[in-house]
Formats: sequence, C-alpha cells, structure tokens
Amino acid sequence: MSKPFYITTAIHYVNDVPHIGHIYENVTADVIARYRRMQGDDVFFLTGTDEHGQKIERTAAKKGLQPIELADQVVASHHANNARLGISNDDFIRTTQARHRDGVYEIIRRIRERNPDDIYHGEHSGWYCQSEEMFVPESQVADGKCPDGHPVEKTTERNYFFRLSRYTKPLLDFYRAHPDFVKPRGRFNEVIAFVESGLRDLSVSRTAIKWGIPFPGDEEHIIYVWLDALTNYISALGFGSSDLTRYEKYWPADVHLIGKDIVRFHAVYWPAFLMAAELPLPKSIVSHGFWLRDNVKISKSLGNVVRPDEIIERFGAEAFRYYLSREMVFGQDSNYSDESFFTRYNAELANGIGNTISRAVKMSETYFGGKTPPHSCDDNELKRAAEETIPSYLKEMDHYAFQRALDLVWKLLDAVNGYIVNREPWKMFKEQGQSEALSRVLWNSLEALRLAWTMVSPFMPKLSAEALRRLGAGDAAPNVGMLTWGVLPTNVPLIAGDALFPRIDFETYVAETKAEGAKVTEANPETKDDKKSDTTPATPADAAAEAPVEGAKITIDDFFRAELRVAQILEAENVPKSKKLIRMKVTTGDSDRQIVAGIATKYTPEELVGRKVVIVANLLPAKLMGIESNGMVLAASIDGEPSLIAVDPGVPNGTKVK
Ligand code: ME8
Ligand code: MG
Repeated sequence: MSKPFYITTAIHYVNDVPHIGHIYENVTADVIARYRRMQGDDVFFLTGTDEHGQKIERTAAKKGLQPIELADQVVASHHANNARLGISNDDFIRTTQARHRDGVYEIIRRIRERNPDDIYHGEHSGWYCQSEEMFVPESQVADGKCPDGHPVEKTTERNYFFRLSRYTKPLLDFYRAHPDFVKPRGRFNEVIAFVESGLRDLSVSRTAIKWGIPFPGDEEHIIYVWLDALTNYISALGFGSSDLTRYEKYWPADVHLIGKDIVRFHAVYWPAFLMAAELPLPKSIVSHGFWLRDNVKISKSLGNVVRPDEIIERFGAEAFRYYLSREMVFGQDSNYSDESFFTRYNAELANGIGNTISRAVKMSETYFGGKTPPHSCDDNELKRAAEETIPSYLKEMDHYAFQRALDLVWKLLDAVNGYIVNREPWKMFKEQGQSEALSRVLWNSLEALRLAWTMVSPFMPKLSAEALRRLGAGDAAPNVGMLTWGVLPTNVPLIAGDALFPRIDFETYVAETKAEGAKVTEANPETKDDKKSDTTPATPADAAAEAPVEGAKITIDDFFRAELRVAQILEAENVPKSKKLIRMKVTTGDSDRQIVAGIATKYTPEELVGRKVVIVANLLPAKLMGIESNGMVLAASIDGEPSLIAVDPGVPNGTKVK
C-alpha cells in the first residue's frame, strides 16, 4: 500500500488573473507532487481560489460585475493557466462551492459542540486592513497604514469572536513538540515570538460585508474570510459531507505550501481553529519567498505585476517551470527579469541539457544504426559520478532545495560533456568502427543522460518523457527505482528528433516584442546593434586588418597584457541568420566560456568540436548578433579567410601561450 501524501497551495484571491507568484506556487507544489509520485506515494494535490471578502466585493463593483461573475472569469483563467503549465492537481476548490460552505459549517458546528465557549458574541472596534482582511493593532498603525503599507479604516462591529487567547499555551506546546512544523526555521521563529507575546481573541464574523458565507444562526453576519478560506483544506476532502473517505485517507495534510506573508494565518490561526474543533493539525507549513521586480514585491496593488504569458508562449511552459525552480533559492526572495530567463534558457537548456542529449543520441544513431549501443558498462567514471549525484539529489529534493538539486544534475551533465570530449567517440569510430570500446563510451553517456533526465522529470515532465523516449528508455512513468545505473537497454531503437530547446536569438525576440508593443518607435536600438555586431572583428586577425597603424612597434609588456591560453572546443554551433559566426563553448580546463568567432566560412561546427585552439582569455566580453562572446580564437587571415592556429594535441587545456 502506498503512503498517502496530501499537498495544498494557498487558495488564490480572484480579484485579478494569476500572476507570477501564483504560477510559482502552483509550479512548486506540482514539482513536490510529481516528486512524491516518483517516490511511489499516493498523492492528493489541491489548489483553488479564495473568492469571498471585501477586496473582491469592491473590485467587482468597480468593474460593474457581481462578485461571482468576476470570480467565474478569474477562475477560468486559473484553469487555463494551470493546464498550460502542466499542473497535475487532483482537485480545484472554490470557496463559493456548496461543498466548501458545508465544510465551513461543519467546523463551526464542531467547535461549538466540543468547546462551546470558544465562539462568543461581542463588540470590536479597531483599525481594519481591507487588503489583508484583518484588524491591525493600534500600535502597528502608522500614517493610516498597516505595517505592509495598505490603508486601514476605523471599524466598529458587534461580532462573533474566537477565543484565540486560550490557545497561546497549547500552540507553544505544539510548536515545541514539532520543531519542523514551519519551514524554513527563520519563519517558525517569527511565529513563535508572535505567539509568545500573547494572543488576542479574533473576530470571526463581519456585518459590513455582504459577500461571504452567512454566519450559521445569524445571517446578518458573514464568516471572517480567513476562517472561511483556511477550511478549504478539509472541505475539499469532503469534510462536512456524508462521504469522509478522502478526508480520512489524506488528512492531516503533509504540506501546506504558502508564501511568507501568510505564515501567521497558517501556523497560528489554522492550528487554533483545528484544536478548538478537536481535529488533527497539518504536518507542515512550508513557506516560499517572493518574486520581486527591482527589489519590490510583485503584487496587484503595487502595479508591477509580471505575467509571463509571452515568455511561456514563445519558449515553452517547461522552460519556464525550470527557470522558476532554478533561479529562486527556495524560501528566499528572488528578482525576476526576462534577461535572467534568457541567460538560463540558452546556457543551461539549449546549450546544456538539450545539446548534450542531441549530440549523444545523434552519434549513437549514426554509429549504431539508429539503436542504443550493443554493450553496456558497469565500471566507469560516469557511473561513479551518477552514483554520487543520485543520493544527494534525493536529499535536496526532500528538503525542498530545488535549486541545489538541479545544480547537482547540471554537474552530472558537465561530466557527461567532459567525458564525450575526452573520449572523442567520432575519432574512435573513424579509427575502429563499431568497436566495443565505442559502444561502451556512448552507452555510458546515454545512461548518464537517462538518469539526468529522470531527475529533472518533476520540473519538466513532458520534455523528460520525450527525452527518455528518444534515449530508448521507454515511456514508463518516472520512479525512483529508475534512478540506478544500468537500466538503459542495449540495441533498442532511439530517436534523434528536433532540438528539445531551440536556440533563441533573444535580441531579435526582444526587438520584435517591443515593436509589437510600440509600433511608433522608428528605430530599434537592438536591430541596429545587431547589424553592427556582425561586422565586429571576430578574430584578432580581423581586428588587425582594420587597425589604423599596422606595423607600429609595441613593448613586450604590451604583448603580455594579452592572456593567451590553450582551450578545447566543447560545442560549436552556427549562429542562426549569420554566414560568418560560430558560437562555441570552450574549456580552459578549470572553466568553460562561450566564444563567438567569424570562422563559419571556413569551418563546420562538427569539425571544430574537440579541437584545441589558442584564445585571448582576458578580452572584455562583447556581443555578436546579441550573443555574448568571452574571448577570441586566434586565426591567421588569408585574404579574409580564417585559418585557426593549431596546437599539438598533447598540450593540456589552459596552458599559457607566450
Ligand atoms: O493570500 N511571489 O491569496 P493571494 C511569490 N487568499 N508568491 C506570491 C507573490 C509573489 N510576488 N504574491 C503572492 C491569499 N504570492 C489568500 C490565501 S490560503 C487559505 C488563503 C503568494 O492571491 C502568496 O504568498 O494574495 C500566497 O501564498 C499565494 O500567492 C496567494 O496569494
Ligand atoms: Mg496576498
């Protein structure tokens, strides 16, 4: 019997369509859900929408809509968004659904039955923050604003109250007994400090608002939005209905995944409500950081919302999922920028994992008649590298350290690249044909790639499935049992398809996007730059040809200012839309770099890979056709035709040239 695993996201307000914070939260919960399914767990993954409250009531009124009409529209965009991103949720709860209302009525009924004093009627007057839907203590109000900068208004209501004060000690006892209840630890410490300072009773009904669930037995009041909203986690499981199968199987939740701004509601109020109802408490509250733009939290009210629709449409949802997981250190804040997406896309996806699989599969296809090589291998450096990676990857995933887990996979990919470059399978084939040694080298590379692609499956599920099919690994759902060396079958068909991550000329993309947005701009700086770059000297020989004073003497010190080193070409690719430029990844042994050189009229990318060259290593970076180049490759120039300076094969990478 597999272990039940219940994960939820926060339910998202419906006053506007989803933004990057919502996307990130759903993607991260999806990564966890898929990872747990890989572990064999019986996962139930819930997300949904929080549709009641003053904020939504007012937004709808401004738009001339009924609140439910606004909610229906926004919910439709959540569904479309989740489908597009491959979110594998098992259910979607809306707080306007009858099943949810029944759950809320049931939790209130139980509190009143088990602890009749816990809900009482009284008067409350204070500062109300509409944005956060809560009363703010007088001491925290400054300039008519709450600590988060939202306006507050003075409100007096006769309300129902929840006796939260009674739960100060039980909560502290619970925290002590469950030191991992809130993650990361820093946030837990904040919660503990807050509770230690003493809890005040909480108003759990409102009369000023109409849009919500009526308070049972007193329909003048509606239920406080947070008591309403938090209960979604059990109402979705059928709590309050006649069928408790799901509730009994999945509650208490393993993970409530939420942003850092709502930890208090989940770690203080929610457990207190559950204690009062004498229901089990969730096992963990896992809190993520915020996406910022220019160091300011991205939110609707600040007007700096990022909706990465355009990026997702052009570069694929899976690339975006990868970016979100790799860029953000889980738990901390991150700055979003299109630039950082572009950089990771090209370096880590197109040139990294995408290019490595294309090369390895293509070689196998060519050398072994479209099949995986006939010989496997059980003792080699890639096996050792993979066997170091796997347990560390699992550990990082268990701790939600997604960025580190992905770093480990990319180190393994670097090892695969280095291995292919060192073994030179193309040379082996030329010299000995389909030898057993060649078979082992290629099989090892494919097997390491199978492991890497299995490990990335929670992040890029569709492309992972496609990559595994191409490698000849079949199409079984990924599971941890597959994370062991020696699984790839020999002699089975593989598929060399199109690039999994087509390379993108981002400057052209940005220029086009800008042009679409602002047709008035006469000239696009990017476009101009592009034209100029293609004529920028790509080798010192070209530069010399343009230099004004040829033959002027320099000192030896002048010469030594140039750092010349031996480098080996790891990857080479024609730059799209350029007749002259080739983009290369070269290594100087301890580090790799990208160089763009104007040598395509003479050399094909295939003949460059593996070759040793001399580079100018300390050149300032330059952009050619929008692609960054870090250094130059030395070449003689015969009437403009480049001829690379050769290096003896035995010279180690990184050796200084003088
Ligand atoms: O708080 N970066 O809804 P919400 C990362 N309905 N995460 C972000 C973010 C950002 N810039 N902005 C928001 C609510 N979030 C309540 C929750 S749960 C019972 C009720 C996160 O739409 C935020 O932290 O304002 C929260 O976890 C989620 O998005 C929904 O925020
Ligand atoms: Mg919010």
